[in-house]
Amino acid sequence: MQTFQLQIREALARHTGLAADELKFELPRDSALGDLAFPCFAVAKALKKAPPAIAAELAQKLSSDLTGITAVATGPYLNFRIARAELARVVVGEIESAAARYGGSSVGANKTIVIDFSSPNIAKPMHVGHIRSTIIGQALHRIFTSLGYKAVGINHIGDWGAQFGGLVVAMRRWKDTVDLETEPVHGLLDLYQRSKAAIAEDPEFAREAKEAYQELESGREGPVRELWRWITEVSLRGFDKTYKRLGIHHDLVRGEAFYEDLLEPTVERATQAGVTEVSEGALVVQLGAIDKGLTETPCLLRQSNGTTLYATRDLAAMFQRYEEFHFERCLYVVGAEQKLHFRQLKAVLKRMGVEWEPRIEHIYFGLLLGPGRVKLASRNKGEVLILDELIDDVVNEARRVVLEKNPAQRDADTIAEQVGIGAIIFNDLKRERIRDVVFDKSEILSFEGETGPYVQYTHARLASILRKASEAGEGGAAPDWTAFEEAGPLLVALGRFPEVVQSAAVHAEPSEIATYLLSLGRDINAWYVQNRVLGQAPGVTAARLALVRASKTVIANGLRLLGPAAPDEM
Ligand code: ARG
Repeated sequence: MQTFQLQIREALARHTGLAADELKFELPRDSALGDLAFPCFAVAKALKKAPPAIAAELAQKLSSDLTGITAVATGPYLNFRIARAELARVVVGEIESAAARYGGSSVGANKTIVIDFSSPNIAKPMHVGHIRSTIIGQALHRIFTSLGYKAVGINHIGDWGAQFGGLVVAMRRWKDTVDLETEPVHGLLDLYQRSKAAIAEDPEFAREAKEAYQELESGREGPVRELWRWITEVSLRGFDKTYKRLGIHHDLVRGEAFYEDLLEPTVERATQAGVTEVSEGALVVQLGAIDKGLTETPCLLRQSNGTTLYATRDLAAMFQRYEEFHFERCLYVVGAEQKLHFRQLKAVLKRMGVEWEPRIEHIYFGLLLGPGRVKLASRNKGEVLILDELIDDVVNEARRVVLEKNPAQRDADTIAEQVGIGAIIFNDLKRERIRDVVFDKSEILSFEGETGPYVQYTHARLASILRKASEAGEGGAAPDWTAFEEAGPLLVALGRFPEVVQSAAVHAEPSEIATYLLSLGRDINAWYVQNRVLGQAPGVTAARLALVRASKTVIANGLRLLGPAAPDEM
């Protein structure tokens, strides 16, 4: 596809005298108009002519210049149509030779992208609020990696903070009353919730909790630290089970505690930069001069009792990460509730005159809600819906759907896991991330809607055509590329995939790939009902099989970037 664009671009540059890489293309609003459009408004000023006149004139001039491409003026647009045989040969050829790497590139060579994602809190099971960060962050990690970047995925576990004081005291008092053997994370949640209640009701408990946290912050080895370490390890083991199922991998697991030794130097650095002041015994950075909206909300770096905060640890982490990775971008995949937090931190960096501040990006997202846009609740605990519970629920339903479609399915368990998890992931990624996601079990599992299973099913159908062809011994002839009159939109879509991946990375928006896959699925299905593949003249069957193979490759590559499996059978 790039080769056609390049040819057009160069011809246009020759005839307009404008720089080739400044010319912008669009997709025509109706694919019947052409495969690529050049809006002439963009150059009207430079050429001092009306857009329709430019379009007409350029169509004339270009006609003798381009091979295999026709240019037609439609109002202010110049539309290009690539000869089908040529388009098919080039696009299918590109996909075949790049195979699993099609869509990727090396634009990111020698550049590092840090991605902070998932980052759940210790002593609590991961809840649905963390699922979006986990899914979006992992997809971004794969997208950037496919573009040649070095992606560093960091799990910034919440393993520090005053609540650990309470938890340690709860452990001391009540650890024999909960089951910390079979389901330690659930036992810990129980203790955590009781400690919260006790801090509110029992002043003696509250005092002990505060003491325990100060002991923890002091860095001294001893029973408090030992308990805290045990809690951390147990929780991490619990998270790992969920991560395995979802295909999640972090390059580094660095909890907030990792930055412990950097807190004082960071506070010192801010003080040296002259941006801190003492206010009611606390150390703060005023931000109104940098960002008017933050006048009332200075950033607190140290409380009057000497303890540091979530923000202090994040600030320390930012400096540490820049020093270690010299990142091109550092993406924080964290819910929109934390907008203020990241806005404050960026303002602190700005006040300190840190030149890489723009590289810090808060990649926020909307809520995950149940049908009717209500908060998702758990059946047993009422308070938080545990992620594993939600996954089990969807996978069980997927098994039912799979067996209903094909009662003889031998691999029902594997397929149910792939379809169920694919459905959850795809549902999370299919719309712009800032929008809320509504989670409706039966809807996300539908094979017909805008769902993961729909895309997976399209892939399985293509796989089944290829199986049948090989059973029938078809497809060995030299492909006849002229058999593609109606395949234009599908070929253009296939050729566009690398651009889509690139754009998803720039915008940190995996939904661009998800939307693309849904529309590609529609193009494939539309072509497929009009064009029989098997049992045609040998050259025609061979060429159409090549298109089926190319389509299957692109769907598989797209799904792989997002996370869902691409089963050959469903
Ligand atoms: N642990 C936090 C929470 O669950 C999210 C941490 C996000 N990452 C960060 N560097 N602040 O709310």
